[in-house]
Amino acid sequence: MNPLKAPLNEAEIRQAVSVVKRDAGMDDSAWFETISLDESDRFPDKRCVYVCCYEPSGNRTLSGLVLLDSDELHDWRHIEGVQARIVPDEFQMACEMARNDKRFLTALRKRGLDDASRVLIESWSAGNFGNPEEQDRRIAYGHCWLMNDAGDNPYARPIANLHPVFDLGSREIIRIDDFGVVPIPPDGGPIRRQQQRDDLTEISITQPEGPSFEVDGFHVKWHDWELQVGFAQRDGLVLYDIGINDNGRLRPLMKRASMAEMVVPYGDPRGANFRRNAFDTGEYGIGVSLDSLALGCDCLGHIHYFDIWTHDWQGNPRLINNAVCMHEEDYGILWKYSVPAAQQTTVTRSRRLVVSSIATIGNYVYGFFWYFYLDGTIGVEVKATGIPFPSALENGETSPYGRHIGDQIESHVHQHVFSFRFDMAVDGELNSVSEMNFSAAPPGKDNPWGNAVLTEETRFSTEQQAQREIDARRSRYWRVLNPNVKNRYGEPVAYKLLPGANSFPLQQADSSMGQRAAFMYKHLWVTRYSDDELYPAGWFPNQHAGGDGLPQWTRADRDIDNTNIVVWHTVNYHHWPRPEDWPVQPVVYAGFHWMPDGFFDENPTMDVPRRE
Ligand code: CO
Repeated sequence: MNPLKAPLNEAEIRQAVSVVKRDAGMDDSAWFETISLDESDRFPDKRCVYVCCYEPSGNRTLSGLVLLDSDELHDWRHIEGVQARIVPDEFQMACEMARNDKRFLTALRKRGLDDASRVLIESWSAGNFGNPEEQDRRIAYGHCWLMNDAGDNPYARPIANLHPVFDLGSREIIRIDDFGVVPIPPDGGPIRRQQQRDDLTEISITQPEGPSFEVDGFHVKWHDWELQVGFAQRDGLVLYDIGINDNGRLRPLMKRASMAEMVVPYGDPRGANFRRNAFDTGEYGIGVSLDSLALGCDCLGHIHYFDIWTHDWQGNPRLINNAVCMHEEDYGILWKYSVPAAQQTTVTRSRRLVVSSIATIGNYVYGFFWYFYLDGTIGVEVKATGIPFPSALENGETSPYGRHIGDQIESHVHQHVFSFRFDMAVDGELNSVSEMNFSAAPPGKDNPWGNAVLTEETRFSTEQQAQREIDARRSRYWRVLNPNVKNRYGEPVAYKLLPGANSFPLQQADSSMGQRAAFMYKHLWVTRYSDDELYPAGWFPNQHAGGDGLPQWTRADRDIDNTNIVVWHTVNYHHWPRPEDWPVQPVVYAGFHWMPDGFFDENPTMDVPRRE
């Protein structure tokens, strides 16, 4: 295991908090947004802690490093003009503030509601729409629901058009936006149905000889794979030093891989619904929202769990038991061939190593799954479930922006956009990226039968050339290659990034939302490695006016050929909700694959046990 990349432990979090409290000079109002392993290159051989705090009295966001060895605070400073993420404790605080606010209670009574304790008020990020009253304050925008009678669905009965607007810094409600009363939908009943069927027999997955992986702390060896499991408060699950053993030699692929940002823009312009576009990573944090997973429920089989230490806003360490799950899964056949004349058939079984974690953020639940296959393929998959964002529908009213999914309930068109970041190292640190396009050759003497297909590979030189979109018509994909290492056929060794089902953003690019999430307009970005470029919408997207992150960094149009590069892939899951998504949405999937593409000289699984 590389101890420098292990997640922070309880003692390290306590130490970082005490150093900051001792030396940062903040007043008692300050709280901790992030206490996470520092991943910059500033002190490469030391364990350092990145700390970000918010000081309400001065509406200041501050950050710096704690050097654990020397117990020192380093480069502590006020970051001007930005807002820290909204932390879970603030969610709770804002909900209580609204429940005790006279104006809010009056607005509830207008809707026939007397019991505020059954109303859930979530303080969503407010975005930045140029409202002068919201500038230079810590604003959050409230959305409200009434709990069902059974008490098992806090989002059951949307209270449409009612939005307390919070200043989370001064801890006051600055106004109540009320766009008019919409009748509250009827109680749809409990989610936990009394009757459950009994006709599904048990599937039990056992490995009598134990799992095939070896774990040393956070380092994992499985089949030919090696990797280290890591964690960031913001990204959640991080994988380091992914490599594959090939004839006794460990060949690196990626130094770091994570889901670096996600945003869910909704497409309804009415009332305050345009406000809904949560950056779940940069505005709330995936790591801090991870679930404790349960054997037999979230994960089935012979599981290895990794526990993770996170923290609350006071800086108290908080353990997430079973935060990361790892196990092997049978995955059907790996390869098969037959020799009919000899009546011979040869089959091998495929299996994969699964490393996953699940985050609950408000109404939605996101699973992040990483799959490692015997043939060198890496699968990346998001599983989205939970409760779709519901809004109330007037009886008989139809909306062009939403779909009727429950009695008097609609859910609006939206997209779930994920940005994955890969610090690449295919057979070494110096890599390049090319794009593959396939097209029909024009008719003519070189194409007498009309069947000719042209194959075109274009290597990118600079960052702006490498901002690309998917193109199914041309079977487009991208290759990360190492020009300095050749395979048996004289080609640079490579891995291909093969897009999965994907989509395009539908927000205007010059809108506030479009500028803040500019990364989503390209499915591929390639940047020259820089240690502080971790998040595609910048470090502080909360209330940011936009333009930070990938569009900002790539303005320099740096050289990306045969150098240390980072590859970013955008996955857009377009969601026009279905009645079947209510009251709970069955898992939907979004993802893509990395596949060896001339990385090996032949099928690397010829030695997998076969059945004949
Ligand atoms: Co959705």
